[in-house]
Amino acid sequence: MTIITVYNKKGGVAKTTTALSMGAYLADFKGKRVLLIDVDGQCDLTRQSNKEVKSPSSYDVILGQCKIYEAIRIIKTATDKDGKKYVSLAIIGADPRLAALDTALANAPDGSVKLRRAFSAYPELEKSFDYVIIDCPPSLGRHYLNALSVSDYLLITAFPEEASTNAIKELIDPIKTTQEVINPELKIAGVLRTRVKTFGKNTSQLFRYEEKKMLELSEELGCCLFKTFIRDSLSVSECQEKRMTIFDYASKYAPTSTAAEDYKKFMEEFLGTIKEV
Ligand SMILES: Nc1ncnc2c1ncn2[C@@H]1O[C@H](COP(=O)(O)OP(=O)(O)OP(=O)(O)O)[C@@H](O)[C@H]1O
Ligand SMILES: [Mg+2]
Repeated sequence: MTIITVYNKKGGVAKTTTALSMGAYLADFKGKRVLLIDVDGQCDLTRQSNKEVKSPSSYDVILGQCKIYEAIRIIKTATDKDGKKYVSLAIIGADPRLAALDTALANAPDGSVKLRRAFSAYPELEKSFDYVIIDCPPSLGRHYLNALSVSDYLLITAFPEEASTNAIKELIDPIKTTQEVINPELKIAGVLRTRVKTFGKNTSQLFRYEEKKMLELSEELGCCLFKTFIRDSLSVSECQEKRMTIFDYASKYAPTSTAAEDYKKFMEEFLGTIKEV
């Protein structure tokens, strides 16, 4: 089982969109069994997965108020080559109480590794899923620490814009500390550029400037800047309106969706990269 956290402390940089697209790609195109975990009190990944916001949620799992398997809800099933049905995509949803997670864990000495405890208490999870993808809120709190405590890989999403590159810079020390103190096994998979506007001369000049900065920051983090980037595409907001994954939306309504094309290409690059890091 491979566990990936999608994170940046900057808001609105397509963390949730990326987490769901990665999960859907692995389930739909690679035949993998994927568990999504939403640890963001905004509950965007839960809603995007067309699931109700309710408990038990990741809040209950992190606080040890329920067993991890009690919070898993099925999104999609598929049939294997022997005709056997299996869960291809599932989620542990979020609920708004997660916004106060830091307060709830204020007096817990193990408050940053509660999710790891929940995983250890249910080793069968390893047999049920090939990938776990965790979506975090844009903050440096217990949410991302708990997510990184169980993760094999961290994927950082960012815009090629100043505020976003500054946010990556501010992540370098906290991530290095997390690797030292909480999870020495954690590897940084790389930085993915999202919502890239590919039109206009000035935009492309700015893009190249920010791209250079992002390359330098990736080097400082000891990871790659993925060659593939996700273009800004109307189909993303359209699929979210319909509570569909980008791939289901593209196959039904938008066969030329650049976001679907880019996420497929990115996932191929991502899977190749994590074999090497
Ligand atoms: N490739 C894209 N093209 C166009 N719009 C996009 C793209 N990716 C994401 N968006 C839009 O950007 C907004 C933010 O995306 P998303 O919710 O995935 O970001 P986030 O980093 O998870 O945000 P938050 O920090 O609030 O959790 C959403 O409205 C989404 O529809
Ligand atoms: Mg989000």
